[in-house]
Amino acid sequence: MNLLDVIKKRCSIRQYTSTPVEPEKLNYLLEAVRMAPSAVNFQPWYFIVIREPEGCTRIRECYEREWFATAPMYIIACADLNQSWKRASDNKDHADIDVAIATEHLCLAATEQGLGTCWVCNFNVPKCKAYFNLPENIEPIALIPVGYPARPSLCEEAPKKRKPLQEIVKWETF
Ligand SMILES: Cc1cc2nc3c(=O)[nH]c(=O)nc-3n(C[C@H](O)[C@H](O)[C@H](O)COP(=O)(O)O)c2cc1C
Repeated sequence: MNLLDVIKKRCSIRQYTSTPVEPEKLNYLLEAVRMAPSAVNFQPWYFIVIREPEGCTRIRECYEREWFATAPMYIIACADLNQSWKRASDNKDHADIDVAIATEHLCLAATEQGLGTCWVCNFNVPKCKAYFNLPENIEPIALIPVGYPARPSLCEEAPKKRKPLQEIVKWETF
């Protein structure tokens, strides 16, 4: 698969098998995360790997959906607001951008490895911070379930809905 094939194959997986993710595959995903670019190369992020039953129970309480509970493991993508770059001209914090890039590396690497993921941002942040002992400056940005899709064809069953290029690309000027 070339990169565009992987990008097109990735989709939000909302049903997993209970098969554990092999440690080698998990390491591959984490290496893809580690190599992500970030503003000023500050790398203002932490990725919490949740595999043990206690952590799985807790994270499922942060996002109570039946499908979410089917995943065998999770990664909490976190921003470190003390380390992120703030642009001088308007003080814009680039933490979310940095973490999002690294997190999508994770999702694409997972797709390439035959695994499924789903971005989840609609979770209970205070619960997540308390359950996983996140300090004040660490913000959980996304919960990413990782596992084998219950049906490999899940994505083909829900073909991608995307705006056409002519709607989103402006040439030379807005
Ligand atoms: C920043 C972000 C937050 C998202 N949050 C959720 C979420 O809380 N729950 C959920 O089921 N899907 C969530 N999604 C998945 C989107 O619904 C999904 O990516 C979009 O519908 C496109 O479908 P696809 O991922 O299958 O291509 C999120 C995606 C992104 C990028």
